[in-house]
Amino acid sequence: MTVYYYKDRFIESGQQLLPIEERAYNFGDGIYEVVRFERGVPVGLSEHLERLETSAAAVRLRLPYSLEEIRAIVAEAAGRVKSEAVDVYFQISRGEAPRVHAFPDAEPVLALFARPGKVHTDESRRVGVSVITVPDERWANCYIKSLNLLPNILAKQAAVEAGAYEAVFVRDGFVTEASASNVFGLHEGVFYTAPAERGILNGITRRFIIAAIRDLGYALKEERMSAAFFEQEVEAAFISSTTMDIMPLCAINSRKLQPLEDTSLIWPVLGRMRELSRG
Ligand code: PDD
Repeated sequence: MTVYYYKDRFIESGQQLLPIEERAYNFGDGIYEVVRFERGVPVGLSEHLERLETSAAAVRLRLPYSLEEIRAIVAEAAGRVKSEAVDVYFQISRGEAPRVHAFPDAEPVLALFARPGKVHTDESRRVGVSVITVPDERWANCYIKSLNLLPNILAKQAAVEAGAYEAVFVRDGFVTEASASNVFGLHEGVFYTAPAERGILNGITRRFIIAAIRDLGYALKEERMSAAFFEQEVEAAFISSTTMDIMPLCAINSRKLQPLEDTSLIWPVLGRMRELSRG
């Protein structure tokens, strides 16, 4: 069951008629967030709203509602979906206006849908997922959660066609992030992840994971992994996102990684990040 909201009201499935000259549709002129609710409780909603505000400011987009109003609409949408885990996708577009490139005189539009979220179990984490590496051909401002996801879609499709789950981007010889997740490596007891610069999305899950690693007193280097280091040397690695928390990797390109042992440092990190993000 999916719940829809457009502009100023909840709408029935099938009623969502998108104006052809809607800028989200014509230009991808907008921003978005995805937040998860577990048993009715949002995970990191304040952080997601804050990032929405950052993205909006970066593209000079006025939010149609206050963050508190958006929070209430998102929560209402989640509450209407009867499921243990609910994912709410919400986007703000620059609105509907005759197509010109420069900003039109238009009202920004909130659109969202809420639907049951896929729950990843620890069993599935023991199995893990495989990734391929692909060139990062995106723009320089990936810290903005923009609706423009064409390179991400092409990368993910390349992964699917290669029989993998996710595509890890490599720019100038270094791992940035993945098509819809952040990337961590573990080598000789040290966690590695790319620093939150303009070239990656500073994942909310990533932030909770970093806090968990620090809290547990483990070593962490927020520095870029070279593609060679990631592809050949890390003993373990995982991807992270709102919809997965932490998902370990079982293969990087053709290299198989050891299944996650009970003693892996990744398990306590998962436990602590869940406490921090649900606390
Ligand atoms: N994607 N990097 C990219 C490019 C992403 O699209 C995402 C999330 C992340 C992880 O961010 P977070 O931990 O805040 O979810 C990193 C969402 C889930 C999506 O587009 O569906």
